Amino acid sequence: MTSARVEILDPLLGAEGAEAMLRLCEGFGGYGSYAEDKTNAVELAPELAQRHDAAVNFVRTGGRFGRREDPRVLAARTNYFRETYAYDDDVHEGISPFMHHEAFLDAARRVHGRPLVVPNIVYANLLVPGQELSVHTDVPEFRGANRKRLPQWLMVVMHHSGLFDAWRRRIATGIAYFGRCEGGRLAYYPDGAEGAPRTLAAKHDTAAVLDTDSVFHGVDRVAETKPLPPLRPGMRLLFEDGGWTVRDGEKALARYDRDEVRFSVSWKAYCYADEAEQRLVESHADDLALPGILERLEADLRERGRLAGERPADADFALLMIDEYVRFPQPEPAAAPAAAASS
Ligand SMILES: [Fe+2]
Repeated sequence: MTSARVEILDPLLGAEGAEAMLRLCEGFGGYGSYAEDKTNAVELAPELAQRHDAAVNFVRTGGRFGRREDPRVLAARTNYFRETYAYDDDVHEGISPFMHHEAFLDAARRVHGRPLVVPNIVYANLLVPGQELSVHTDVPEFRGANRKRLPQWLMVVMHHSGLFDAWRRRIATGIAYFGRCEGGRLAYYPDGAEGAPRTLAAKHDTAAVLDTDSVFHGVDRVAETKPLPPLRPGMRLLFEDGGWTVRDGEKALARYDRDEVRFSVSWKAYCYADEAEQRLVESHADDLALPGILERLEADLRERGRLAGERPADADFALLMIDEYVRFPQPEPAAAPAAAASS
């Protein structure tokens, strides 16, 4: 396969613009933990986590370096903080110049080879010392299938199966870094799960633009300058008195300097071949629907020899699909023993 295109923007905004993003981040005040979004309208195998694929892989492999740790510690490592700066027309004051930055639009055009780029989401992600993000691909979207309607693992399965490419909405993701924390490099697999990973430092005022729905990626551990607190959903990260505090209700659990916390901003844009494609999305004329999606996957599994007889119950069917289609990169074997000893 050819390498996926990854555009690096360095510098991204320039000194003044980058400083403004840091002030915006701090001025936003508080960030919630990235709890699971269980709001999809159609229930299918509700016993599975939304990102069952990535969570199970992380616990099974111990992440990119195969570190073996208590699942509760692994959960705290990945329970990072997020808030939304823009979602469709709901745009936080001050984020517009970033959202519509010409360099992002150009890079997105190059990533997907599509000229019509429409930014729609900006998220802020904050990781404290000792946190990391397990390797995953993002939740893709299809005409008629998105995270508001269907479980996230199903969209991931759909994309990795390759069976629904004609319906996939191309999304370019920009990941921008502001601040001066140590560690927390982006690890990504531009040559697919079998290829070697590359890493990119989370350098102040730079960004990478790529198709994160297709390219596996994760975040290496942020320098563990302080012990990792037992972070759980419901906790908050607040900017107070010139630094960051993790609070569990009123109780302060940890305190960090500005430069210990990793701040990145995720930018997402739809990329269209032309206005006709944009109109097709808006008209919902050829939207996929759940019964057809499952029939197509079932037929493919039978062809591959993975299924005979009746279709299993939803949860078992889901696990079979995740196992068959979502092939994660393997941990790096050479690094495993040393990393385990030093972690
Ligand atoms: Fe991601």
